[in-house]
Amino acid sequence: MATAAVLGASGYLGGELLRLLSYHPEIDVVAAVSQSQSGKRLGDLSPHLSRFEDLVLTADAGAVSADVAFLAQPAGEAMRVAPGLLERGIRVIDLGADYRIRDAAEYERVYGRAHTDPENLAKAVYGLPELFRSEIAGARLVANPGCYPTATLLALAPLVKRSVLTGPVVVDAKSGTSGAGAAPTSTSHHPEAAGTVWPYGLPVHRHVPEMEGILQRMGPAPPLVFVPHLVPLVRGILCSIYPTARGEFDAATWAGYLSEEYAGSPFVRVGDVPRLPWASGTNRCYLSVGAVGTAPVLFSVLDNLGKGGAAQAIQNANILFGWDERTGLGHSGFGI
Ligand SMILES: NC(=O)c1ccc[n+]([C@@H]2O[C@H](COP(=O)([O-])OP(=O)(O)OC[C@H]3O[C@@H](n4cnc5c(N)ncnc54)[C@H](OP(=O)(O)O)[C@@H]3O)[C@@H](O)[C@H]2O)c1
Repeated sequence: MATAAVLGASGYLGGELLRLLSYHPEIDVVAAVSQSQSGKRLGDLSPHLSRFEDLVLTADAGAVSADVAFLAQPAGEAMRVAPGLLERGIRVIDLGADYRIRDAAEYERVYGRAHTDPENLAKAVYGLPELFRSEIAGARLVANPGCYPTATLLALAPLVKRSVLTGPVVVDAKSGTSGAGAAPTSTSHHPEAAGTVWPYGLPVHRHVPEMEGILQRMGPAPPLVFVPHLVPLVRGILCSIYPTARGEFDAATWAGYLSEEYAGSPFVRVGDVPRLPWASGTNRCYLSVGAVGTAPVLFSVLDNLGKGGAAQAIQNANILFGWDERTGLGHSGFGI
């Protein structure tokens, strides 16, 4: 049994971590840290939670004592609190962006602030288990990938590894509004988002350098033309991906590459064109390869709060502690 702390407990990913951890047989949540809700009982803040309801939220990350801390906070916060946690021997899984981009200067360019913890940045491991499982196993600090990068990288990495792509890859991504976090904004709150589909993050969304950096580690990586859209759903990401094939393209052969790559990865499914509710509430990513005429198209579906966030963080914790990576993550999707 390991003990865990969740920081950012009142946010969407903090809440999803607490919901999913309530099913985990090996993890006991002993601290829930919240700047805005400290002093409240978790059961009063989140009445839907069936476990940990008597935990009282605290504001002081410096007082946390646990085997692992999940940081579900905005970029900039993790690099402020992670050094202290790591010094106290607590393993850290950051669900934000602070440790995903290896180069501090590139982080500053993308996120508009200097990186204040370059020492730990150099040691952080990118927490996409299907690609970096063995590195994660020995890590003290895991950078959980972004939701769009998880969906995009799982589809493209096997193809980059096999050098079958050429030219730019167009990624037409659609996300539910929970991807924007719990605080309403002028573009994400219900009256603005419920009746429209909105392309945003142009010309270069913040996740593009993260994705291109990881693809370059896999092989000769194509540039990405990435256009995210906010759609009037709560959960879920669908990426429709239009690559250009180097040489002959055959959908069955490419699907075979993906199946081969993920043969030992229980959370990635390769098959028919996926539907978002298959993945809702789960740690699964559904991939599909098809053809429009002779051109390839790939589809990647996941839950941004699940495989795109909280569930993947728990998968990483399972690997850190040497448990079966499916531990506590075996539940089914919503289906509709
Ligand atoms: N939403 C997604 O689908 C998704 C997916 C993957 C990754 N992420 C990343 O995961 C992190 C958390 O995302 P989220 O959607 O859960 O965000 P959120 O709903 O906005 O929650 C973030 C929480 O962080 C805490 N916090 C601490 N310092 C803060 C500060 N200076 N300003 C504002 N909040 C602060 C707040 O909780 P307390 O008041 O309780 O401290 C807040 O509720 C972000 O870095 C996000 O980019 C999100």
